[in-house]
Amino acid sequence: AKDVGILAMDIYFPPNCVLQEELETHDGVSKGKYTIGLGQESMAFCTEVEDVISMSLTVVKSLLKNYNIDPKCIGRLEVGSETVIDKSKSIKTWLMQIFEESGNTDIEGVDSSNACYGGTAALFNCVNWVESNSWDGRYGLVVCTDSAVYAEGPARPTGGAAAIAMLIGPNAPISFESKYRGSHMAHVYDFYKPDLASEYPVVDGKLSQTCYLMALDSCYNVFCKKYEKHEGKQFSIFDADYVVFHSPYNKLVQKSFARLYYNDFLRNCSTIDEESREKLAPYAGLSSEESYQSRDLEKASQQVAKNLYESKVQPTTLIPKQVGNMYTASLYAALASIIHNRHETLAGQRIVMFSYGSGLTSTMFSFKINEGQQPFSLLNIANIMDVSKKLKARHVVPPKKFVEALKLMEHRYGAKDFVTSQDTSLLSAGTYYLTHVDSKYRRFYDVK
Ligand code: ACO
Repeated sequence: AKDVGILAMDIYFPPNCVLQEELETHDGVSKGKYTIGLGQESMAFCTEVEDVISMSLTVVKSLLKNYNIDPKCIGRLEVGSETVIDKSKSIKTWLMQIFEESGNTDIEGVDSSNACYGGTAALFNCVNWVESNSWDGRYGLVVCTDSAVYAEGPARPTGGAAAIAMLIGPNAPISFESKYRGSHMAHVYDFYKPDLASEYPVVDGKLSQTCYLMALDSCYNVFCKKYEKHEGKQFSIFDADYVVFHSPYNKLVQKSFARLYYNDFLRNCSTIDEESREKLAPYAGLSSEESYQSRDLEKASQQVAKNLYESKVQPTTLIPKQVGNMYTASLYAALASIIHNRHETLAGQRIVMFSYGSGLTSTMFSFKINEGQQPFSLLNIANIMDVSKKLKARHVVPPKKFVEALKLMEHRYGAKDFVTSQDTSLLSAGTYYLTHVDSKYRRFYDVK
């Protein structure tokens, strides 16, 4: 199979959001901490009628309908999620309901999980399948679904929720350059979910930021080496038209891009101009440990990389800034943002992706973009995702309501024998919602 990659995408996020500016006031933090300090605008969240299962059902049904895909044509279905509900029972099995209806139960794949990286693992599994001897000619389908919620405190504004579905096959408009993957995997306790009675993670925020940047450096190094071995020339960020980062919050994305620029400087790339070289020269001798701690380096590298950030990264930030951290879906929501913003000019370009999941697992990889053929054209993908309309249709709720919703979910997490409000007034037609959970913890959903 040639040009294997993403043929089609669809995205769903809940219709409720809270404004970060209002959350700053509500939480009593200094003005600008969440909006400028973290770089976030608003945050989506699930109310009691939605969860990762309902969102994934909604987005899969919507993708199949919008691109007119026969459910029988799916041969592999992989889910990436870190939101645990039935533990041993995968979310993938929930999605089988959609396929059983058409008589298709011959579908490989289960769930992948390691924090925000599960979606990338699921994507690689599908792409590898299509490129392998066991491929039977049908499509792969990848679903990333998560609800990111944190306990009260500094991490809470970095939540979010969404589900993304991606159809995988040959001759794709968003095709893998599989030769250049670079990974970095290690054991660390930066973020994990050891308390099975709670949906909230245990998180060491500062450690997770440093781990993210260390993983980025390491992946970029491997990625560049593989590129150079293959192409016989040096790689620099100028060889990427866009760089898409896993986005827990926008400030980390700004710092990450500057970090790549600093890497290019250390690697003595010819693409770094004289003026930038002079500005970064004082930091050439820092140990890597020192470099993660240096505020001056952070400032200097962000300043010299600013113009490039505007052209190569800014167009990827729309959905992550508006919806928040969507865990496994975050990186792909950033990809969806470029397709939304730049579908007319993307053909022939290269997109570099950086996936990070705490614990930790990370990979840098790249896509080559082609025009694509109907219904799998970039324009059609952008039209179907209809990001502007979905963002505009959202309802802004006051922080008090958001906090109340989270309180209720704390009680509902892991509970049995309850009926939800079944209030679907904000949901659009075709959205799945939770109606009740019975005495055996079995969940029941309906469609609006
Ligand atoms: N105006 C402007 N900027 C402000 C203001 C203000 N009034 N107040 C603070 N800031 C800035 C700070 O200077 C800081 O910016 P900097 O990083 O450039 O220095 C930023 O806002 C955040 O402030 P901190 O005091 O560093 O925030 P805090 O430590 O309270 O929380 C954190 C931030 C650690 C990211 C927390 O939200 C968290 O733990 N989140 C979850 C973990 C996470 O997302 N990690 C990322 C990778 S792992 C993953 O994806 C889950």
